[in-house]
Amino acid sequence: MRLAVTTPFRPTPAALSAARDAALRRSLPFQPRATRSLAEVAAAAEADALLVLGGFASLWVAGAEQRWHPGMGGLRAKRLLKGERITGDSFLEAARLRPGDAVLDCTLGLGADALVAAAAVGPGGRVVGLESSPALAAWAGEGFARLPGEAASRVEVIAADHAVWLEAAPERSFDVVVFDPMFRHPRAAAPGFDLLRRLGDARPLSRGAIDRAVRVARRGVLVKDGTPGWDLARLGLAPLDGRRGAERLYAWIDA
Ligand SMILES: C[S@@+](CC[C@H](N)C(=O)[O-])C[C@H]1O[C@@H](n2cnc3c(N)ncnc32)[C@H](O)[C@@H]1O
Repeated sequence: MRLAVTTPFRPTPAALSAARDAALRRSLPFQPRATRSLAEVAAAAEADALLVLGGFASLWVAGAEQRWHPGMGGLRAKRLLKGERITGDSFLEAARLRPGDAVLDCTLGLGADALVAAAAVGPGGRVVGLESSPALAAWAGEGFARLPGEAASRVEVIAADHAVWLEAAPERSFDVVVFDPMFRHPRAAAPGFDLLRRLGDARPLSRGAIDRAVRVARRGVLVKDGTPGWDLARLGLAPLDGRRGAERLYAWIDA
């Protein structure tokens, strides 16, 4: 997919220069918006998709523009930051994150879990999110950069295939490593999930990537699957005890 960067109509000088900088940083072509429609801008840039960078980060693909948002992650993180108990957040219950933790999210997607993890680890912690779809990585990276709040600023997005990245990562360099691969049996879509499904890397999680993650983790590796857990079974992983009727299952591997 050929991606280019542009802006909304009438960007402020600061937004224009931020969009140009982002294009340069990401080695993407920049195409000024002027008074053109996004379809015209895409045609001029010979691009299939546009990252539209202003006060928000939007992605334009196949005639539709969608603003980046970390889905329910925003609400989940807000509740956590207000000091509410995490009961009911199956990801946090399974990950058992602690303040100051370094978390590696190997399947960033739209970054909902990464944002929740960043809220949970607090100011002394950090979250690195790996995403192999270049368009999703650029969209989420620019989205996080524009999301107010210090939790968002603790998330670093890297465009990379986790299997390759983990190979080169130092041993025991993250407390917890997380995998949430594309479900092979997807359920009702959250906003943005259609684009995630269209652009996301649907290759099944490999046992080799999990083994590499165990080497990189200090405490353990968390793997998420949809019920009934066919991917966990394929990978030889037993799900943690979950709530009755839960839509998601988790397996934990001690490092
Ligand atoms: C189900 S989504 C993750 C959703 C995410 N947990 C959230 O909260 O928004 C899975 C994501 O992992 C990415 N992915 C799949 N295989 C990958 C790989 N080998 N390396 C990096 N990212 C990968 C997909 O492109 C997709 O965006």
